Parts: sequence; C-alpha cells; structure tokens
Amino acid sequence: MEFLTNEKLTIVGAAGMIGSNMAQTALMMRLTPNICLYDPFGPALEGVAEELYHCAFEGVNITWTTDIREALTGAAYVVSSGGAARKAGMTREDLLKGNAQIAEEFGKNIKAYCPDVKHVVVIFNPADITGLITLIYGGLKPSQVTTLAALDSTRLRSELARYFKISPDEIRNCRTYGGHGEQMAVFASTTLVAGRPLSELIGKEMPENDWADLQQRVIQGGKHIIDLRGRSSFQSPAYISICMIAAAMGGKPFTYPAGVYVHNGEFNHILMAMETEITKEGVRYKDVKGTPEEHRKLQESYEHLCKLRDEVIGMGVLPAIDKWGELNPHLK
Ligand SMILES: NC(=O)c1ccc[n+]([C@@H]2O[C@H](COP(=O)([O-])OP(=O)(O)OC[C@H]3O[C@@H](n4cnc5c(N)ncnc54)[C@H](O)[C@@H]3O)[C@@H](O)[C@H]2O)c1
Repeated sequence: MEFLTNEKLTIVGAAGMIGSNMAQTALMMRLTPNICLYDPFGPALEGVAEELYHCAFEGVNITWTTDIREALTGAAYVVSSGGAARKAGMTREDLLKGNAQIAEEFGKNIKAYCPDVKHVVVIFNPADITGLITLIYGGLKPSQVTTLAALDSTRLRSELARYFKISPDEIRNCRTYGGHGEQMAVFASTTLVAGRPLSELIGKEMPENDWADLQQRVIQGGKHIIDLRGRSSFQSPAYISICMIAAAMGGKPFTYPAGVYVHNGEFNHILMAMETEITKEGVRYKDVKGTPEEHRKLQESYEHLCKLRDEVIGMGVLPAIDKWGELNPHLK
C-alpha cells in the first residue's frame, strides 16, 4: 500500500493520550512509513511503541526515543502535543507558564536539530501562544507553523447539526476565529445550514437566546469533554492534527481554520485562527469576513491573546516584539 510520503514524521509527546492516538492515526492513514515517537517519559513511550508494534502495521518503520536530538534529526514533519494537559477547573491559560517554557525549548530544538523541517503542528495549550513561541525560537517561516484550532469549528458543526436535527454534512463552512480559548469568536455569517445562511435563521427559526447558548456550548466544548470523561479530549485533537500534517505532506488540503501567524495591519505579531488553507506549500491565510458585531468579537479575542503574549514577554520567555527578528529573520 502506498504512503503519502516516505519522509520522517516525528510525534512529540507521543507517550500522552493525543500523541499516542496521533501515531496510530498517522499509521492507519498511511501518511509515511517512517514515524518517530518522542516523549521524556520513557516507560509510557515504550508502552506506546510496543502497542503499535503489536498492531502489526505492514511496511512501517516505527522508532522511539527519549533523546530529542535523535527524534528531530532528519524530521520533515513534526507534530507536538508534548506539554501538560488541562485538569478539571483549569482554563487553557492556567497552563501558560509551564507550557510556554516547553515551547521555547521545543523551538530551540527545532532550530538546532531539524532546521529544514517542512511543517510543524503545535497542539499543546494555550496553543496560540505555544505555537507563536515555537515559531519565534524555531526560526521557521510563518507558513511552516500551524496550531490546532479547528476543534472549535468542528464543535460548532456538531452543535448546529444537533440543534437543527440534520446531518452534520449539511452544515457548511462553520467557523470560529481568533483565540483557541474562552474568548474565541464564534461566527454565524459564514455558515450554511442545509443550504440556508445561519444568520437568516437566527432570530427566526433559532431564537437569539438559543444561538447565544449554542455559542457558549462551543466555547465550553473542551470543558464538556473533561466533565464527561474526567480528562481532556484526545481523540478529536489527534485526528484533526494528523489531517493538518497530512495536508502539509500533499494530502487533502485542510480548510478548517488553523492557528497561523498573523501580521496584516489589523492584527499584528500574533498567532490565531484565521480563514486558512494548509497545502504542500504550507499555510496561507485570508482576511476574515463577517458582520461588524462578529468583527468586534474577533477584535476582543485578538486583544485577549495580545495580553497573554505580553504576559509571556513579562515572564522573560519571549523577548520584546522588536527583538523577534533577531531570533527569527522571517518575522522582521
Ligand atoms: N489545541 C487543542 O485543540 C487541544 C485539544 C486538547 C488538548 N490540547 C492540549 O494538548 C496537550 C497534550 O494533551 P494530552 O491529553 O495528550 O496530555 P497527556 O498528559 O496525556 O500527554 C502529554 C505528554 O507530553 C509529555 N511531555 C511533558 N513535557 C514534555 C516536553 N517538555 N516535551 C515533550 N513532551 C513532554 C508528557 O510526558 C506526556 O506524555 C495539553 O497541553 C492539552 O491541553 C490541545
């Protein structure tokens, strides 16, 4: 059976729930035979590798290591969920400090051991910030780094399908933009519900209050999984992240919003979910179209992210913005 590429894919955080699911998904989707698993926690990592060997996938070369240098050397594609996960009662932002430091280290390791990497997907939270830190320290082009933000849009798809009692396939182009956090901007104007614009249904077939409640359910979608399962979600993040890296390998383009470095005059020096497409050429973004009210929400989400970014600068993990170009010439 053919693979999408033969190039090396490294999964960072592979002993964890998302990482181990990503490894299995990538193998099942036949992305590449060459998969390397990395995690600092050796015993669990070995356990993940053993399980994958016992799957008896054909024609594959699965390696594992607790040495980051070995893991990243020669990697053309990297996905990382390697960081702490949110526990009950924590917001994504509570994770900020520890995971920001992990992102700094991760970026520096990319620059040292795989400067020719083609694409990196960052998952660990708060992903907009850890992705930004990875980009800055990794020295990569903005088109080469994306973060997992699409779950907010796929949760919107699922909630709308449930509300209107139709197949999720009949919900088209549903979008959330901005931060992947509690301040995300959930849009209505992009979405078609069974061919009809959602904006025209709100206030008529869908009372305004119901739309407000549904938006809250989307925003709290991750928390809801923690409430139900007693741990943070891992199946959907694993699958969607692997779809993102598959797109970067030249597979099906990925068109749900991804977190991307944005510097367009309106939003600057930030990484957040925009209207994006991931292809073999990397990620490209377009400006977001929406109503004035939706734009106001996006602006608020951006401002919230700027505060988080500035907190990380205050912690000394990132230098001041005017110094970013010294670490990454692509950001000048
Ligand atoms: N962006 C999203 O949509 C999204 C969705 C769900 C979860 N997440 C985030 O993904 C991350 C991973 O979640 P999980 O459920 O797999 O957690 P997990 O605890 O099961 O796994 C995390 C793994 O990371 C490893 N790790 C710790 N420090 C590391 C380091 N410095 N370098 C590399 N690996 C390291 C741990 O040993 C562990 O195996 C969390 O930060 C979580 O909040 C993001």
